[in-house]
Amino acid sequence: MIRNRRYRRTESLLKLFTETDVPIRTLVPAYFIVEGTGVRREIPEGSGLWQLSLDQLREEGKRAKGGGAEAVMLFAVPEEKGVKYATARDSLACRAVQALDGLGLARMADVCLCSYTPDGHCGIWDDGGPHRHPGVDNDRSVALLAEVAAGLAAAGAELVCPSDMMDGRVAAIRAALDAEGLGDTLVVSYAAKMASAMYGPFRHAAESAPKHGDRRGYQMNAANGREAMRETAADVEEGADLIMVKPALTNLDLIAETRRRFDIPIIAYQVSGEYAMIHEAARAGRIDRARAVKETLTSIRRAGADLVVSYFAPEFWDGRQLV
Ligand code: PBG
Ligand code: ZN
Repeated sequence: MIRNRRYRRTESLLKLFTETDVPIRTLVPAYFIVEGTGVRREIPEGSGLWQLSLDQLREEGKRAKGGGAEAVMLFAVPEEKGVKYATARDSLACRAVQALDGLGLARMADVCLCSYTPDGHCGIWDDGGPHRHPGVDNDRSVALLAEVAAGLAAAGAELVCPSDMMDGRVAAIRAALDAEGLGDTLVVSYAAKMASAMYGPFRHAAESAPKHGDRRGYQMNAANGREAMRETAADVEEGADLIMVKPALTNLDLIAETRRRFDIPIIAYQVSGEYAMIHEAARAGRIDRARAVKETLTSIRRAGADLVVSYFAPEFWDGRQLV
């Protein structure tokens, strides 16, 4: 008789035959950087999303490194809207990268325009005309994104992470980096980023909700797995070093398929809405929080993700969650 329960008879056997781990080095925390000093606020409350001023970011970076983290994801939340604040070489995002100098952390700097454009779109909106549909102007946006990426890399970001979903931006960013002698910078491409219902808390923290329309003209249709592979193939071809899949739990099939088809590191993003689903269900007493966190992160890793951006990450080193 085949008795698979043999593997599960004792605690040590269960541990011995565990196939998938979630080492702390694979978890990437994400922070929202604001101007000022001494600012440290969770926005919205209970979201797991923290707005930090530069001094607090540095403190948090030290804690993360001390706890075993090797990378952090950075989003800037500028005081004033305007794309000139995104492309400036001393932008808040650039200063956030510099605030983490010398800590031995890999800095993953977000590259997008939605926190800067007055209408909250990830690129420059074009109202259209007699022969053009209204929508985000791809090529004008790409030129700006390449400039933003070069600035962040020049400030010291080891990884630049375009999350905008414009076409051709990986190639443009690669070219801009090469032109400035920054060819060693890793490009993390959000290749399969779905137009998802689960970004709500993030848009609040990043002050990046679109003021008109939605993002379905550039982010992917969540129904499309084959198109996700075409997006990925294009970004790999253009020179991406890592591929991002997002959200994580609703796209485990795409993580697995990407792992089968491409020999490139994969990073999955457990997004703000995924955090909310677990956190709020646990708060209501419906599920065990620590176990749900462990189970979801393990599943994302089992599907094939090398790294996971997660708002739960700091809990693994601040004593709230026992690994
Ligand atoms: C914006 C961006 C978003 C997220 C990451 N980058 C929001 C959006 O696309 O509207 C979502 C992450 C999260 O929900 O945690 N480029
Ligand atoms: Zn954006």
